[in-house]
Amino acid sequence: MKTHTNILLGILLATTISTSCAQEKMATTQKYEPVTIEELALLKKTLLWSAEDDRYLKMAGEVLEDQLDDVLDVWYGYVGANHHLVYYFNSNEKPSADYLAKVRLRFKQWVLDLCHKPYNQDWLDYQHEIGLRHTSKKGKTDQVKNTPKIVHYRYMMAFVYPITVTIKPFLSKKGHSDEDVEKMYNAWFKAVVLSDILWTKPYIKDGKF
Ligand code: HEM
Repeated sequence: MKTHTNILLGILLATTISTSCAQEKMATTQKYEPVTIEELALLKKTLLWSAEDDRYLKMAGEVLEDQLDDVLDVWYGYVGANHHLVYYFNSNEKPSADYLAKVRLRFKQWVLDLCHKPYNQDWLDYQHEIGLRHTSKKGKTDQVKNTPKIVHYRYMMAFVYPITVTIKPFLSKKGHSDEDVEKMYNAWFKAVVLSDILWTKPYIKDGKF
């Protein structure tokens, strides 16, 4: 009887260990692949993306090109004024000027890429990389010491509004008609939403994206 109980306990223990190992393995082997061209096409369709958006996004890029420092001043002013946001640029519990400055350069490049680059697999792969830089690779590119491990998902979502709405005054600074400004603004809004969708893939459980 005792032997029987021991065997049963052994089986139970082995099953428990193998289940928890499998769960652990699932957590560490969850793979985040870049979005594919096919998935991108359906996302753009869902966003009511048109050829007109391509044209107006390019126009927006031309309008913004020489205003990027002013745009970044507005965005960084907003982040800097919010303790709960500038926190993500901390190194050893204080905002790192060096980290902020390095990211600022890549932020400017992102605006240009978003407006001018073809949205091909290379572009998608880089969006994947940006997603990782907000999560598992955060701080790695700039070798930031002791920085928050991820940017929390809720702020990734909330950021869409300020990054969208603050661009409008810059789009209307070059004498374009109200209609052109509105169309550039709409194309910009769609492009920011699209970027954010692509970047938040690592936050979503396997099979749920
Ligand atoms: C719509 C949402 C967002 C946009 C458009 C955006 C844009 C960007 C861009 C373009 C970069 C540089 C990517 C590169 O390395 O090429 C970046 C990095 C970064 N962003 Fe965001 N971001 C968003 C949300 C947020 C939020 C909510 C925070 C929190 C304050 C944040 C904090 C950071 C940080 C800390 C980095 C540096 C990541 C690293 O260590 O490489 N971002 N972001």
